[in-house]
Amino acid sequence: VFQVFICRVLIHGVTALWCAAKAGHFEVVRLLIRHQANVNHTIPITKSTPLRAACFKGHMDIVQYLVEHQADINIVDNDNTTCLMVAGCQGHTDVVRFLLERGADLNRGHMDIVRELVSRRAAVVEDKRGMTPLKVAADRCQADVVKFLLAYADCDAKSRIEALELLGASFRLFPKERLPHIEAYGLRRECKSLEELENIRVDHDALHMEGLMIRERILGSDNFFVPNQVFYRGTLYANRWEFDNSIKLWLHALWLTERCNCKTHKALLILVELFYKMVHLHKPLNAVSVEQVMSCSVLEIQRSISRVDSAAEGELPQALDNYKTNIFAFLYLSCISTKTTCGEEQRTRMNKHIYDVIKMDPRSDDGSTLLHLAVSPGTQVNSCYTKDVCIFPNAQVVKLLLECGAQVDAVDHEGNTPLHVIVQYDQLICDLLTLHTIISSLVEAGAHTDMANKQKKTPLDMCSTSAAKDLLKSQMKMSLQCLAARAVRKHSIPYRNEIPKTLEEFLEFH
Ligand SMILES: *[C@@H]1O[C@H](CO)[C@@H](O)[C@H](O)[C@H]1NC(C)=O
Ligand SMILES: *[C@@H]1O[C@H](CO)[C@@H](O)[C@H](O)[C@H]1NC(C)=O
Repeated sequence: VFQVFICRVLIHGVTALWCAAKAGHFEVVRLLIRHQANVNHTIPITKSTPLRAACFKGHMDIVQYLVEHQADINIVDNDNTTCLMVAGCQGHTDVVRFLLERGADLNRGHMDIVRELVSRRAAVVEDKRGMTPLKVAADRCQADVVKFLLAYADCDAKSRIEALELLGASFRLFPKERLPHIEAYGLRRECKSLEELENIRVDHDALHMEGLMIRERILGSDNFFVPNQVFYRGTLYANRWEFDNSIKLWLHALWLTERCNCKTHKALLILVELFYKMVHLHKPLNAVSVEQVMSCSVLEIQRSISRVDSAAEGELPQALDNYKTNIFAFLYLSCISTKTTCGEEQRTRMNKHIYDVIKMDPRSDDGSTLLHLAVSPGTQVNSCYTKDVCIFPNAQVVKLLLECGAQVDAVDHEGNTPLHVIVQYDQLICDLLTLHTIISSLVEAGAHTDMANKQKKTPLDMCSTSAAKDLLKSQMKMSLQCLAARAVRKHSIPYRNEIPKTLEEFLEFH
C-alpha cells in the first residue's frame, strides 16, 4: 500500500492492483491477481476499488477479468456511487452492458434517482454545495437534460427561469436581475433588456463577462462551481498578454475559492507564475495585487497548519504536501515583492504579511525556515519559463526576511543555521556577490558564526569553497565569551550547575 499522484492530486493508500487497473495494464493485473492481490481492497478515504478504477477508465478487459475473479460489483464508494454509475457517467457503454449482464444492482443508483425525479421534486433538491440536478445540467451545457428535467420534474417558476438562464450563460447567451458591480468583470453590469444584450452581441469579451456575472448571481459567490470558469477566463487573458484583466479575474477567482472554503494553494501558484511571467517580460507589476495575493497566501498557510494539526491519519500526507506547497508559494511571493516598485505604505503592508508568516514559523520537511530556504540553492522555482526571475540563494529575499524579523540563528533538523547552508554554495564563478552579500547580511543581523550543528560542525567547518572560508573569516568577530565556551567544550571541563542556566545553553551550541 502506497501513495501516488494522479492529476497532481496525492492519493494515499492505493495498491499496485488499483494502479494497474486504473492505468489499463491487463498483464500486470493478471499477474497481481495470480499472486493473491486483494481484488476487493478499498482506498481509505474515497473507498475506491480496482474494479471501480477500471470502470472509470473503461478498461473492458480488466473489468471482465476482475469480475471473473470475484470482485464485488455492487460495492459503493464514499459517495454511495456504484461501479455501474461510474461507467455510466463516463459513457462506457460496453462496461455498463457487461455489469448489467453480471447482475449489477440497478436499484442502487440511476433508477432510484429517475423514479424520484418524475414523482417528486428531486430536480431542485440541493446537495451540500447548493447544487441541484437541474443546475448541474445547466452549468454543464447539457441542454437536452435540462429540457428533460423541466418537462418531467415538478419545480417552481424561479428554478425553471434560472436553469434556462444558467444554461444560456454557460453557453454564453442571455440574462436578467443583476449582481452588484464586480470590478473583475470589467466596467459593465449585467444587461437588463434585450436591447442591451443586442448591443453586445458581437462583443465577445462582453458576452463572456455577461456569462460570468449570470453564473455568479445564480450559483452564488460561495459556490464551488463558480471559480473555475473565472480562472479559465483569466487564463485566456493571460495568454493574450492582457495581464491586468487576467489578474483582476484571478484575484476574484481566488476570493471566490476562499468564500467556498476550498483550498487555494493551486490558485495561488497560478498567480505566482503569472507574476513571474510578467517580471520575465518586463511588464510593470502592481504592488497592490501582489499584496492581495500575499494576504491570501498568509491565510492559506494558517489554514494548512490547522489542517495538518487536525488531519486523520489517511489525510496527513496530503495535508503536509499542501502545507509545503503553501510555504514555497509564500517564499516566491516574497521574492516577487522585491521586484515591485511602490510607496512606503504599500511596502509596509507587504512586509507585514511576511512578518505574520515568520511569526507562524513554518518549516519544510527538513525543518528549514523561510530564511534557510532563501539561502539554499536547493530551493528551485519549478517552471522552466520563469526560473530566471527568482534564483535561490537570493540575497534580496534574505535581507527582506531579516528586516521582517526572521530568526538568524534558527536551526533545521540537523542543527544547521542559515549560515551553515549558505557557506556550502559553490556556484561562485557567476555568483560570488550573492555569497558575499548573504554572509554579510547574516553576520550583521547577529548570526552566531561559531554555532555547531548536530555533527558539531561550525559554519567554518562546512565551507565548501576557500572563497566562502575567507569571507566568513573576514566577517567573524569572535567574542571572548565564544572563545571561552569553545575551550570549555574542547577540554570537557565540567560546567553543569557551575554556571547560570542561560550560559549552559550558550555553551551547548559550541
Ligand atoms: C469480494 O467481495 C464480494 C462481495 O462481498 C465477495 O463475494 C467476494 O468473494 C470477494 N472476493 C474475494 C476475492 O474475497
Ligand atoms: C450512503 O448510504 C448510507 C445507507 O444508505 C447512508 O447512511 C449514508 O448517509 C449515505 N452516504 C452518502 C454520502 O450519501
